[in-house]
Amino acid sequence: MLILGIESSCDDAAAAVIETNRPGRAVVRSSTVANQDDIHRAYGGIVPELASRNHVITIQPVIERAMELAGCSLGEIDGIAVTRGPGLVGSLLVGLMYAKGLAQASGLPVVGVNHLEGHLLAPMIEHELTIPYLALVVSGGHTALFVVEDFGRYRKLGSTRDDAAGEAFDKVAKLMGLGYPGGKIIDDLARRGNRKRVKFPQARIKSAPLDFSFSGIKTAVALFLANGTDGATAAEDLAASFQEAVVEMLVRPTIAAARELDARTIILTGGVAANSRLRARLAEAAEADGRRLVAPSFKYCTDNAAMIALAGSYRLLRGDHDPLSIDAEANLPL
Ligand code: KG4
Ligand code: ZN
Repeated sequence: MLILGIESSCDDAAAAVIETNRPGRAVVRSSTVANQDDIHRAYGGIVPELASRNHVITIQPVIERAMELAGCSLGEIDGIAVTRGPGLVGSLLVGLMYAKGLAQASGLPVVGVNHLEGHLLAPMIEHELTIPYLALVVSGGHTALFVVEDFGRYRKLGSTRDDAAGEAFDKVAKLMGLGYPGGKIIDDLARRGNRKRVKFPQARIKSAPLDFSFSGIKTAVALFLANGTDGATAAEDLAASFQEAVVEMLVRPTIAAARELDARTIILTGGVAANSRLRARLAEAAEADGRRLVAPSFKYCTDNAAMIALAGSYRLLRGDHDPLSIDAEANLPL
């Protein structure tokens, strides 16, 4: 089957064509992303109205480019998979309406995909994984531990009580006046910094050890910037110290969950999985515990449509599809 994937849940408009004949196995023929960082940078964060308006402009060229790179025409496509939530509703609607329009015009089946399901299955694009597996999804909107029990069956073990880890990166970068999006900037800066320079508090939720909390660290950095600095702490050291605390707050519950489940493999996925220190530390902690870490390459960590096509493919492969009445859902649960 050739499947066209469409993703527009936040600030990236993405399209991909994958080729698959069994659930979880796919060859990516093309995967393209129209990034809006340059548009939102001036505001220090995503402006939802601008995101959806720009999707309206880019969605068609992005899809056409994906088809062109894949070397196929709409006539050769067997099904469409499109993100229908969670995300910014205006952004979601652009991709979803486009997909429904294509389906209506071509008679192709369409399936609505949960964006988180895309992140959870993304590692399968490049790795042969055995289900069930444990996955830490960590992005700008989500931070959660899941067990992928089967295609379509996901058990949440714990999640953030407040901010997502990516949100903490972005907000701290803004507080430090570093620009947007903050995750990559902090990651790059921290490479040259001393991670032991500032000891930031690490939140632990005793009653729910597999849950996370990142609002405290953001406040701690804000207070440090307001009155804690002696003027001598370099931005590199502050970035490294902040990042270290976030990484440890992600590593501890993940290793605890792996022990609880006796999971041999730990999957790291979502935009923050691109963080070099998180990848290194989690790999080290997993290895010390006799486990292995698997993470997608950068292009499949951050938002992309290949993961959406893959997450929709197991339903399309069995002849399933959604009615054209499906709607976008900003808080779609998994
Ligand atoms: O998965 P994603 O592309 O979009 C959402 O679904 O949220 O994740 C975007 C998030 C942003 O918060 C961004 O700052 C963060 O991932 N991010 C990083 C890195 N690259 C992207 N965070 C830390 N280190 C990075 N290298
Ligand atoms: Zn995402």
